Amino acid sequence: MTSFNILRNNLEELSLSKMLEVLPNVMDNSAKNNIPLTDSLLELTNAEIEFRAERAKKINIMTSHFPYIKTFKDFDFSYQPSIKREQIADLMTLRFIETKTNIVFVGTSGVGKTHLATAIGIEAASQRISTYFINFAKLMEKFKQAAKENRVEQVVKHYLKYTVLIIDEIGYLPVDKAAAYGFFQLIAARYEFRPTILTTNQAFSKWGDVFGDAVIANAIIDRLVHHCEIIKIAGRSYRVKDRKIFEDEPESTTQISSY
Ligand SMILES: Nc1ncnc2c1ncn2[C@@H]1O[C@H](COP(=O)(O)OP(=O)(O)O)[C@@H](O)[C@H]1O
Ligand SMILES: [Mg+2]
Repeated sequence: MTSFNILRNNLEELSLSKMLEVLPNVMDNSAKNNIPLTDSLLELTNAEIEFRAERAKKINIMTSHFPYIKTFKDFDFSYQPSIKREQIADLMTLRFIETKTNIVFVGTSGVGKTHLATAIGIEAASQRISTYFINFAKLMEKFKQAAKENRVEQVVKHYLKYTVLIIDEIGYLPVDKAAAYGFFQLIAARYEFRPTILTTNQAFSKWGDVFGDAVIANAIIDRLVHHCEIIKIAGRSYRVKDRKIFEDEPESTTQISSY
């Protein structure tokens, strides 16, 4: 076996797949341009390091369970003038993680709450910060079940471990009492410890109805808003934008009524 082939085998054995891939190019370049050995080794190792960082980033994004991949760049701020671009840009710096500041997006359906919460979450996950996205109804289902099985504390502990926790769609469905108390415990445990990002279609004044208990709702809001950026989005649903193509058509041929 030639030394080149042995080298290739060694790289494979050491699981240095990116170095293995770029080796022929680096060797050609080195021979043609008289590149010093250190520089060639640097190029090889840099390629492997970059590849691994990119792979780790992708895995982190995947395991964070985002509903879709949407970023800051994908957001059309001109469509939603009630949102200050600079405020979101500041959140994208992830400074809120250091200051343990919560973020609450409030607004009606389709205004970009989930999009922006996801964009911030993707930025955190890209930087390999442990991040998790969960739908509120799903979380409440977990707390309801846990309450029956006397293991609410375990569920709280589980969701406490994520540096950034995103809870989406508070307020679309009423909440079971035991689940509401579990949620309070989670928010209380994360308070001044780790930031939580929430989206809701209900103003805080309506949370008593959402949680079926004004005392619990107040206790939750109290801890949430102490260190919190509240972003109220008042505008048209972005989903309506897509419907513009139907606007000039007779009613019977449109899909509008199904929304
Ligand atoms: N200003 C915007 N620019 C670009 N896409 C947007 C904007 N607002 C909403 N969207 C898109 O519209 C859809 C609905 O937005 P979403 O954030 O899910 O709404 P909601 O406020 O109900 O959570 C998503 O596909 C989202 O990416
Ligand atoms: Mg949403």
